Amino acid sequence: MTSAADAGTWTLGDLTVNRLGFGAMRLTGGRPFDQESGPSDRDQAIAVLRRAIQLGVNHIDTAAFYFSALRSANELINTALAPYPDDLVITTKVGPARDPHGNWTPRANPGQLRGQVEENIRQLGLDHLDVVNLRWGFTLGSISEHFGAMAELQQAGLVRHLGISAVVPEHLAEAQAIAPVVCVQNPYGVGARPEGHAFLRECGERGVAFVPFFAIAGRGRERGTDGLAVSPASAIDQIAAAHSATAAQIKLAWTLAQGEHVLGIPGTGDPAHLEENVAAAAIRLSEDERAALEEVPATVGERGW
Ligand SMILES: NC(=O)c1ccc[n+]([C@@H]2O[C@H](COP(=O)([O-])OP(=O)(O)OC[C@H]3O[C@@H](n4cnc5c(N)ncnc54)[C@H](OP(=O)(O)O)[C@@H]3O)[C@@H](O)[C@H]2O)c1
Repeated sequence: MTSAADAGTWTLGDLTVNRLGFGAMRLTGGRPFDQESGPSDRDQAIAVLRRAIQLGVNHIDTAAFYFSALRSANELINTALAPYPDDLVITTKVGPARDPHGNWTPRANPGQLRGQVEENIRQLGLDHLDVVNLRWGFTLGSISEHFGAMAELQQAGLVRHLGISAVVPEHLAEAQAIAPVVCVQNPYGVGARPEGHAFLRECGERGVAFVPFFAIAGRGRERGTDGLAVSPASAIDQIAAAHSATAAQIKLAWTLAQGEHVLGIPGTGDPAHLEENVAAAAIRLSEDERAALEEVPATVGERGW
């Protein structure tokens, strides 16, 4: 049986995870990512989460701000999976903020991060969080005050390990001077720009996990795979055909092939897509195939990926 373990493992601090994980953002449906659609099917979302665990997924990415009018990713995870398997690592993120209607509000200031961490703890039914990313939003400027506040929450026992997200390399150096960083979560995938590749490599050299998002959606970003239609996909399609695989699987396999420190968190609310994504953990691309995929031109012209 295919398993998320087929791509091997990585250790976040002292927590070992299978490199193929799961992103929970797509479970909720509706706002803020798709104004047109309604809330997701609750039973299906819960079934996807339970199936992910059966398939060996033990790293799930989520956030309290992943909610639509009627669904919360954290609540779905809690309902589907608690009491949690011993080896499950749930990674959350703080920084961005939404009001109860779902409207985005200004990013949390350092003093508000504790409340956001506690909100995730409550929703997930935990007493501390395994890994928390400070999600910055790519703007330049120092993260030290915010990351210093995260380090205090770690010292207080509310957070086990810290990461950063939507950042540039200067932020990693800055954060590491304050406290250990176990992961960087940034957009990345086939067609990444040279700066994106360089940052991924730098994370590896520093022993930090690189956790790409939009690895399937690419330039579709929050809209999802409707963006695939405008991607230069021919090399991907040819390689997919050679492996009897889908384009999404090849994109995932390629990101995982970029380094042992790369952890996949593909997001889906679709049970068939989940099976496909986990099966991608076993796909091994040849050097020629990897080279052909490197040639796919940059698809997104911003933020270094
Ligand atoms: N730190 C950040 O700022 C940040 C930002 C965005 C996301 N994230 C995290 O990263 C995770 C991954 O990002 P993402 O979910 O936006 O993008 P993604 O994993 O690149 O792609 C998800 C999109 O692709 C579709 N999809 C998934 N598997 C597929 C398959 N096998 N075949 C065809 N389509 C497939 C999904 O739709 P279906 O539901 O229909 O499968 C969805 O539209 C998120 O879930 C979230 O946890 C973090």
